[in-house]
Amino acid sequence: MSELTEQVVKDSLATFEHEILNQDLVKLSAVKSIEINYGAVAVDIKLGFPCKSIANELAADIVKHLQRSENIDQAEVTVSWNISAHKVQSAVAPIEGIKNIIAVASGKGGVGKSTTAVNLALALQAEGAAVGILDADIYGPSMPMMLGVSSERPNSKDNKTIEPVVAFGIKTMSIGYLIEDKQAMIWRGPMVSSALTQLLGDTQWGELDYLIIDLPPGTGDIQLTLAQKVPVTAALIVTTPQDIALIDAVKAIEMFEKVKIPSLGIVENMATHICSECGNIEAIFGEGGGEALASQYSIDLLGSLPLDLQIRLTTDAGKPSVAADPDGTIAQIYKQIARRLGAKLSLQGKDYRGDAAPILFREA
Ligand SMILES: Nc1ncnc2c1ncn2[C@@H]1O[C@H](COP(=O)(O)OP(=O)(O)O)[C@@H](O)[C@H]1O
Ligand SMILES: [Mg+2]
Repeated sequence: MSELTEQVVKDSLATFEHEILNQDLVKLSAVKSIEINYGAVAVDIKLGFPCKSIANELAADIVKHLQRSENIDQAEVTVSWNISAHKVQSAVAPIEGIKNIIAVASGKGGVGKSTTAVNLALALQAEGAAVGILDADIYGPSMPMMLGVSSERPNSKDNKTIEPVVAFGIKTMSIGYLIEDKQAMIWRGPMVSSALTQLLGDTQWGELDYLIIDLPPGTGDIQLTLAQKVPVTAALIVTTPQDIALIDAVKAIEMFEKVKIPSLGIVENMATHICSECGNIEAIFGEGGGEALASQYSIDLLGSLPLDLQIRLTTDAGKPSVAADPDGTIAQIYKQIARRLGAKLSLQGKDYRGDAAPILFREA
């Protein structure tokens, strides 16, 4: 038997593959330390995205993989994560404390964008991230209702900035907390634009790994403001499988492409209907639409949600699926989408502007 060296361990880790990782552990620079003690090895893995609900399983898989190497008798693996700030549009500076801003968009209204945004935020948190959500639907805010905090009003400690409303451990801000019902409907473009930048800039978000922005449908003033003034790391597109919704989704994808915000994935909502009587699964809005769209634009289909009465009931009752039934089937789908999104994002270039200034050497 040849000797157990660090190289042997690295070679083994370089061949470990898992659906969530997209790349091997060495290429991902996820191997933080390797300790060798005779035939035993201890490996510390640090991923760039939160994955609490699969960390143990992943560690066990890596142990098994290592033990396949004839030089390794015993292996101990820990899996943890550290989320970095990733690149945003070059003309916009990142916001201190907020590592990544993810815009949740759709071309059409009523496809379940807000439902997806809020469950995704809860899922990212459940996977171990610090998360905030900004309701950018100035005309029709839905976060206060969906999170069961409609009657809350944000505090201001200094009369200049506002404290976010915390719901289920998530920091939230919405115009819905600040105005009475329907008041916002009459706002015009410039007012809407400044409302959005103020909601974002005047809120004391603190330290966040991800700030989810729930956009209104379409490609209007709010989207324009977002593209020009908000440091967005990536977009997530929500669509139903209906052709018409897909055509609208294309508009959203192309809009982000133009402003150099990468669309990291598509979530297909209301993809199938599960009959609450007999459990029969039907694709009432057509089949495979999200997949076709994803492959056409080389964007990943991150997951599909069924049209499910529980999703509507829980969300409309102010306790979204991931909070209402954290281990249920629906929550598992949202958590998988959250991990996939985080993993995709971790492959994007990092943004170092929030770090100490790099030292530049100039030739004399
Ligand atoms: N997968 C789903 N199954 C059942 N109802 C859903 C689903 N997704 C969203 N809904 C419901 O559809 C309605 C519209 O969803 P919403 O998230 O507000 O859409 P959008 O933000 O795109 O306008 C809400 O009543 C919501 O509870
Ligand atoms: Mg909405």
